[in-house]
Amino acid sequence: MGIFKTKAISTLVRETQGKQGLKKALSSLDLTLLGIGAIIGTGIFVLTGVAAANYSGPALVVSFIASGLACAFAALCYAEFAAMVPVAGSAYTYGYAALGEFWAWIIGWDLILEYGVAVATVAIGWSGYAVNLLDNIGIHLPKAITLAPMDGGIVNLPAILIIGLIAWLLLAGVKQTSRLNGIIVAIKVAVILLFIVLAVGHVEPANWHPFMPFGFKGVISGAAVIFFAYIGFDAVSTAAEETRNPQKDMPRGIIASLLICTVLYVVVSAILTGVVKYSIFSRPEAASAPVAYALQQIGIHWGAALVSVGAICGITSVLLVMMFGQTRVLFAMSRDGLLPKVFGKVSENRKTPATSTILVAVVTAVTAGFLPIHIVAELTNIGTLVAFAIVCAAVIVLRYRRPDIQRPFKTPLVPVIPALGILSCGTLIAGLQPATLIRFVVWFAIGMVIYFAYGYKHSVLQNDIRAKQLEKVNNQV
Ligand code: ALA
Repeated sequence: MGIFKTKAISTLVRETQGKQGLKKALSSLDLTLLGIGAIIGTGIFVLTGVAAANYSGPALVVSFIASGLACAFAALCYAEFAAMVPVAGSAYTYGYAALGEFWAWIIGWDLILEYGVAVATVAIGWSGYAVNLLDNIGIHLPKAITLAPMDGGIVNLPAILIIGLIAWLLLAGVKQTSRLNGIIVAIKVAVILLFIVLAVGHVEPANWHPFMPFGFKGVISGAAVIFFAYIGFDAVSTAAEETRNPQKDMPRGIIASLLICTVLYVVVSAILTGVVKYSIFSRPEAASAPVAYALQQIGIHWGAALVSVGAICGITSVLLVMMFGQTRVLFAMSRDGLLPKVFGKVSENRKTPATSTILVAVVTAVTAGFLPIHIVAELTNIGTLVAFAIVCAAVIVLRYRRPDIQRPFKTPLVPVIPALGILSCGTLIAGLQPATLIRFVVWFAIGMVIYFAYGYKHSVLQNDIRAKQLEKVNNQV
């Protein structure tokens, strides 16, 4: 079956080597910072409120641990691939090498959903903190232009504006440099530590009761929502070609960034639900900027303003990474012939994929302007969870199919760890709202139609196979 034909790992490495020959400058510390830069954003600063008020209650801590565990299993599988196939392209490329084109398409199609809707989610989070900060300094924007229709507004204008701004930066060829990322990571971590220091003395243990107001099922649904907070560690793997010693540094960077964020998240969520009653986060003004709101509630307004500024900086950098990631996935899929050439077109003067950047910006801006955050966050999560589960499966498959390949980093206890990865991602998927599952099925079906109507016919790999078959027939004649 041609659709299950895999791409040879040597071809993947050659493809990228021939192209740009990126400078190998990143160390494991750089990679860890890169990971933290992509991870900490809307998840911890905004979705904690959504999850605490509607699903987890004070057991938000448990939700974070459960979600972190699922990510840890997936991260170990990512690390094996990232060290073995040190080329940019992430899960899509791994799928192509291990499982074949059809599965690669499914992963790529999921990643388009992941990055696309993540851009919208992160932009809505950015808008929440920007509006909160303006409120703090006496500029009150009307709800009609700061919230989506389902949240009681008309359009979320700040979210649209920030997407426009980021797209403009990307079009101008701005890339997040390692140094800028380092500064932003320092700001993000500093405001989180500031929150911890300022709020820890105001924890009222009574606020932790009842611990699981929505039961254990609620805790799992909460975990499925705040899973968003961990998305981004996979971004580390996209820097494989620029890493000095990918075999060693890649797994270290992925695992260290995930570990650091998990610790910060667990501490913040415990304090957040201890400082104020979880139910407060259902108020619209609290839901859009819960961390700052909690500080306001205990009277530390300057702290709230600082957290808002830090959150805005931090979330902006996540937005840049996500939109960049989206255009690169489209680029890779178009290079393989699975998507039209227009997505791979690079503008002459600036060497940026201009058309796809504009297209991505328009679609995500409309999504961010008119949909509420919990819907887009859940959609991002389901796309990512499915991609993670396939990567875990790919580790098992490739161990059996190609035991000969050198694996500088090996996922421990295969097949147990990948199987636990698949199981935990599946559990989180089951914890998402039924409407999200339906939306995902529709997305999947559209993907299938596009693959068989377009991708299969235009695939570079398939055309190679066809050409070889033709040659064989001609030789026989
Ligand atoms: N993990 C990233 C965030 O929370 C996507 O914004």
